Amino acid sequence: MDRFIIEGPTPLEGDLTVGGAKNAVLPLMAAALLARGESVISNVPDLQDVRFFMTILEGLGARCSFNDHVLIIDTTDQAGFDAPYDLVRKMRASVYVLGPLLAAQGRARVSLPGGCAWGPRPVNLHLEGLRALGAKLELNEGYIEGECLNGLAGGRYRFEPSSVGATANVLMAATLAVGESLLENCAVEPEVTQLGKALVKAGAKIEGIGTTTLRVQGVERIDPLEQSVIADRIEAGTFMAGVALAGGKVRLQGVNPEHLAPVTAVLQDMGVTVTISEAGGSISVESNGRPEAVEVVTRPYPGFPTDMQAQVMTVCALAAGTSFLTETIYPDRFTHVAELQRLGADIRLDGAKATIFGVEKLQGAQVMATDLRASAALVLAGVAAQGQTIVNRVYHIDRGYERIEERLGRLGARIRRKRG
Ligand code: EPZ
Repeated sequence: MDRFIIEGPTPLEGDLTVGGAKNAVLPLMAAALLARGESVISNVPDLQDVRFFMTILEGLGARCSFNDHVLIIDTTDQAGFDAPYDLVRKMRASVYVLGPLLAAQGRARVSLPGGCAWGPRPVNLHLEGLRALGAKLELNEGYIEGECLNGLAGGRYRFEPSSVGATANVLMAATLAVGESLLENCAVEPEVTQLGKALVKAGAKIEGIGTTTLRVQGVERIDPLEQSVIADRIEAGTFMAGVALAGGKVRLQGVNPEHLAPVTAVLQDMGVTVTISEAGGSISVESNGRPEAVEVVTRPYPGFPTDMQAQVMTVCALAAGTSFLTETIYPDRFTHVAELQRLGADIRLDGAKATIFGVEKLQGAQVMATDLRASAALVLAGVAAQGQTIVNRVYHIDRGYERIEERLGRLGARIRRKRG
């Protein structure tokens, strides 16, 4: 397994173009199953999760090609409906194929995704929402077995709590259901909004996109998708946190500053200078002092994103003062805490609340990557820490960040990948 060797501390300086959003491209890939023909998705990041989802789609009979960040998914001869355990268990988002398969083929057999690095990841909202559209779903031997041979029928469902994945899954299914569906307390993350817009471009009838209430009129057919993926707000936020930690000045290009508003607000509270370009599309981040302590609570969009929790906790580790961080989406998403403590961070956990007593410096050490965002936070910590940090099991990072070591390296970080 690959590892990163990082020598710190180094500031981060220069320009960076942010890639397409992993969490936007995965539902778009699943949505291609609603159509017959060639869907073209552009600005697709070259990530393990993308290549992995291609394997899932090919297992269902689609043909995928991926060159120069353009992904073509041809479903002309696609007829499979079985997403097996040995594939689904590796990536939870595979459950996104459930709604489209039921809607387009009337049946599906998808393995339950199981948990992830930090704990259980339920799918009850996906199942209940699809049942509200008339799907017959049973759980047998770890598989979700679904059937609706007479097609889906429009229905009404309220997500509690709001769920990105369940909103995407049920929305995709509702586009081909007969009649009207009313979906309430939907997620409004930018990635869900993009999915809704892409579906409308492909012939779906959806009102309320971008709001928590979606009204869908089922249609006969969804055309192949053609969509360029929005910039990855979490990748952008990760690099912004890197500047807050290590100091320096970085200009992020290709971003949508509005999608980063909750992250920008927290970093500005920590004393980081964030400047949004007049023409939009780029954000400049500068920090040349010790960050200030802060209080953060993770919330569904437009609140502070849980996917930035580990990165901001790492900035808090070096802040002047005591910070408080509460995780409300995944109360056990703290696998990074023990690793940060190995680097000298002083963090106390009490359930879903973390108290971080800022220290002057972090000391390099060997650490273990666990989940995707925690691993990125450890890499940032290594860039700011004194001496050498080795981050093991970096395949977690490759799932959601394209060649992160090359891009950090171009910004001045001393980081190299050791293969094997
Ligand atoms: C998506 O996961 C993202 N993944 C996650 O990003 C992100 O952390 C999460 O949304 C929250 O923003 C993708 O988009 C591929 P949820 P998802 O359903 O859809 C509970 C990353 O690092 N819930 O919005 O699985 C759930 O336990 C990943 O890129 C149910 O109770 O998240 C959580 O508490 C990690 N029942 C809350 O809802 C369900 O059926 C929100 O989860 C589904 C979810």
